[in-house]
Amino acid sequence: LDGVALDRIQAGQAGGLQDIPGRSSRTGPRADGVESAHRKVGVVMVNPQLSKAGAGRRPLVVGNWKMNGTRASSVQLLSALRSAEPFDSDVSVCVPFPYLGEVALTLQGSRITWGAQDCSHLEPGAHTGDVAAVMLADFGCRHVIVGHSERRVHHAESDQRVADKAKTALSHGLTPIVCVGETLEERQAMQTEAVVKRQLSAVIHTLGHCVSQIVVAYEPIWAIGTGLTATPEQAQAVHAVLRAQLAAASTQAVDMRLLYGGSVTAANASALFAQSDIDGGLVGGASLKANEFSAICRAASAAVHESLGKSKT
Ligand code: 13P
Repeated sequence: LDGVALDRIQAGQAGGLQDIPGRSSRTGPRADGVESAHRKVGVVMVNPQLSKAGAGRRPLVVGNWKMNGTRASSVQLLSALRSAEPFDSDVSVCVPFPYLGEVALTLQGSRITWGAQDCSHLEPGAHTGDVAAVMLADFGCRHVIVGHSERRVHHAESDQRVADKAKTALSHGLTPIVCVGETLEERQAMQTEAVVKRQLSAVIHTLGHCVSQIVVAYEPIWAIGTGLTATPEQAQAVHAVLRAQLAAASTQAVDMRLLYGGSVTAANASALFAQSDIDGGLVGGASLKANEFSAICRAASAAVHESLGKSKT
């Protein structure tokens, strides 16, 4: 983050990005590289046919625990989540590999599904330290996150490598959650749209029409773990770009779930999930607190009802 953003966090102004250079403004010039045609105007949906209710997209909230927790705290967290069930949205937790067995046992009989945070693009073999998609399937995983920015950056994963991981995951019956997102510098350089399109394009080329079977998560890197959330309008603008790109590749793009990730909390979830192309969230820090995560899941459920209500009028 640049100095301005850090100053704002230190000043306790998390969540507001108005003064950060490069931040989009509805009236000002395009400042982030997202074409204005994709922006939502006020609270009116650009295309009511694409409303969640109309498209039948059930919200999905995924907890990304990252490298956190212990065996004991994982069971405790999941037990607390189970006591908050049922949710009207789909709920999943992507946990560290060593906890998968215990998580699978703890979630038996629950509608909460589980998954992992990465997988190899390769099939089983001599690949020390890697985990194969087929192994995740063996543990009953439903989802696997691929291309999280923390892996793209710290493990030098290329767009093509991420696409190959998505392909391998799909071939073993897992639903890949493919992450895309720009850095603050890229946003300030008006590259947001170009970056996310480039990242998604590798996946589309690799999967072809099967791309409709993935979940896409837009996670602006400057919003991850910083307390700086994209505004609902900023997030919606990028989601509309992504859905349009998917629509050019698959007639089923309207049914695909696009999640927003980056400092999602119980306080900001409802406004984000109310956006027409945001179908839930990929939640990091807040997914480690049962009350907070349950509240986010309930916000997603409420978004369905809200959307259904709107479509009746
Ligand atoms: P935070 O919710 O902690 O910002 O993390 C977001 C994320 O990276 C989820 O994958």
